[in-house]
Amino acid sequence: MSRMNKAASVECQISRIAIETQSCISIYLRRVDGLPFLQFSAGQYVALELVIQGKSLRRCYTISSSSQDRSTIRLTIERVNQGLVSNWLCDHAAIGLRLDVGVPTGQFVLPSESKKKLLWMAAGSGVTPFIAMLHELADAQLSCDVVMLISVKQRQDLIGYNELEALIKLLPNVKLVTTFTSETDLSRGQLGRWTADRIADVCPDLHERLAYLCGGAAFTTDMQQALISLDVAPENVLVESFFVVNTNNAREAEPTSMHVQLMPHDVRWKTDGTQTLLALSESQGVEIPSVCRSGLCGACSVTIKGPCHSEGREALDDASFEAGARLACMTFPRGDCVVELN
Ligand code: FES
Repeated sequence: MSRMNKAASVECQISRIAIETQSCISIYLRRVDGLPFLQFSAGQYVALELVIQGKSLRRCYTISSSSQDRSTIRLTIERVNQGLVSNWLCDHAAIGLRLDVGVPTGQFVLPSESKKKLLWMAAGSGVTPFIAMLHELADAQLSCDVVMLISVKQRQDLIGYNELEALIKLLPNVKLVTTFTSETDLSRGQLGRWTADRIADVCPDLHERLAYLCGGAAFTTDMQQALISLDVAPENVLVESFFVVNTNNAREAEPTSMHVQLMPHDVRWKTDGTQTLLALSESQGVEIPSVCRSGLCGACSVTIKGPCHSEGREALDDASFEAGARLACMTFPRGDCVVELN
């Protein structure tokens, strides 16, 4: 059963594949009907829906190409631990493969005020929204003042580096500093993780900048803490983080059977707490709306009464969380509970 809004999604075909690193590819997608893609802003993502082993699966990927060329969009996909769809695409993506692509969405975009000074921090494939933003700045010939800090393990893990360098040549107010956490060849950067002291060194006017963080949950959490320790106001820090639900945490739950009741359907399921609420409902043939399946979009927000464990709450504001809202894609029941769709 397909759950993406078919009226809003478009059927696309892979027209080109580029190998970015040993564990990362870019796929270029064209609409099958030959029309241009919907308008999007650099930094936004789309949901891809594809069928793997007879199951319809959906995941979100940032558009890494220029928003000015809508004949083709490029999505950059990195292998991740337990990343069923990403890993399948890295292994099986082929020219001509058809996929449904959802409407571009997301708030991780350039500020409307183009004179604002920015700090961008990325780890791994977290660089992709910034590549799209650099294209947008270059295409619009905007001279935005950006300090861009990248962190990767080794030089071979740099994604799109030649493209980044070419874009930065067009944008004299963009300064790029790369750090490697484990590398001996330092011709393209420095050694060590970003710490509060190192950030303050390379970016002395930090407090004049709007900060954007993109990468895995551990990186964005650490960098957020580093910035806050440097007295950067939390409202000046935008975060886009890729959560991978840690099913090991779920397995630490007691393997006792528990009842989950999903209202208003008045259905009850038994579970041992090892599936997210979203996976549990799907395995029982009941739909909870979802888009990103990684805690970003908020589409799967539900209200839970009863014990549960959540791995992330990025898409929920404090008031909703306090009121019992949880993200079904990130939440595991821990005992009998009643779930209401929001
Ligand atoms: S599906 Fe997007 S937050 Fe759960």
